[in-house]
Amino acid sequence: MKAKILALLRERKTYVSGQQLCEQFGVSRTAVWKAIEQLREDGHKIDAVPRKGYLLVEEPGTDLTREIYTQSEISSRMQTCWAGKKVYFYESIGSTNVQARQLAEEEAPHGALIVTDMQTAGRGRRGRSWNSPAGTNIYFTLLLRPGFHPSKASMLTLVMAHAVAAAIEEETGLTVGIKWPNDIVIQGKKVCGILTEMSVEQDDIRHVVIGAGINVRQQDFAPELAERAVCLDEACGRRVNRCRLLAAVMEAFERDYEAFEAAGSLMPLRASYDERLINRGREVCVLDPAGEYRGVAQGITDTGELLVELSDGTVQKVFAGEVSVRGIYGYV
Ligand code: BTN
Repeated sequence: MKAKILALLRERKTYVSGQQLCEQFGVSRTAVWKAIEQLREDGHKIDAVPRKGYLLVEEPGTDLTREIYTQSEISSRMQTCWAGKKVYFYESIGSTNVQARQLAEEEAPHGALIVTDMQTAGRGRRGRSWNSPAGTNIYFTLLLRPGFHPSKASMLTLVMAHAVAAAIEEETGLTVGIKWPNDIVIQGKKVCGILTEMSVEQDDIRHVVIGAGINVRQQDFAPELAERAVCLDEACGRRVNRCRLLAAVMEAFERDYEAFEAAGSLMPLRASYDERLINRGREVCVLDPAGEYRGVAQGITDTGELLVELSDGTVQKVFAGEVSVRGIYGYV
């Protein structure tokens, strides 16, 4: 309700009468008034004039000193049918992936979006932790209940990587790359990491949770990361609005997921993914537990493996999860 009022006021850009809001949402004047009061408490400037109604005075987030990061503000920006249609927002939480798995057991719907301002036990890939300070970055997890076979779930990470890259490009105008399979890279540095986890029962997926951490304004990275991490504000030289970016990611993901689901593979996204693939045409080092080797990355397959051409001309398919790939001179 708060989110719907906010979305309507933002769209109209003029005074909207209390009566109109009551009729539009089928609620009482008191309910409208209470929602407006709560939005004001959240920090929204809403002007109220007798006989004219309510006006949203400023766009939150364009103000450099503050950004409103709440469930209503995020929801009011969503233009999707199912991805991020239901938002669970927390000021602070251990890990959005863990919370999403918990909510999945409590019947949260397909497309539920779990967002927090900070994590106290953020998780990275390969058992690493993910530093998640407050007021700086985006930490979210999307809950999915796919109908397809568990063997296809690993491709979802690439679908999310593609969606995040496209959304960042759209919101910032920056050139965004993907380091296979799922790191988002700007100016040669990592700006987003993705962690996908799945729960399977016999041969069916119970649920999949896809978590992403996007560096938006964090400047002080741990010394071991400082050389290879960057945030969006620094990369584009202005303040990026976290709610707008989240909504853009959900829109891009919904579009990409539907294309992926209909095709049953990454085929519809492959060319667009490969265009952003920073490893393409470069020499990479494949850290295979069975033995490291080098080759030139060519692109991905329809099922998300990386194709690497070896010096003898043969092409190797590299499966994510088993190995990691590095540039021969460092991170990319
Ligand atoms: C990586 O190691 O690159 C993956 C990092 C994934 C971090 C995100 S932040 C939101 C979600 N919740 C977590 O605990 N981890 C993911």
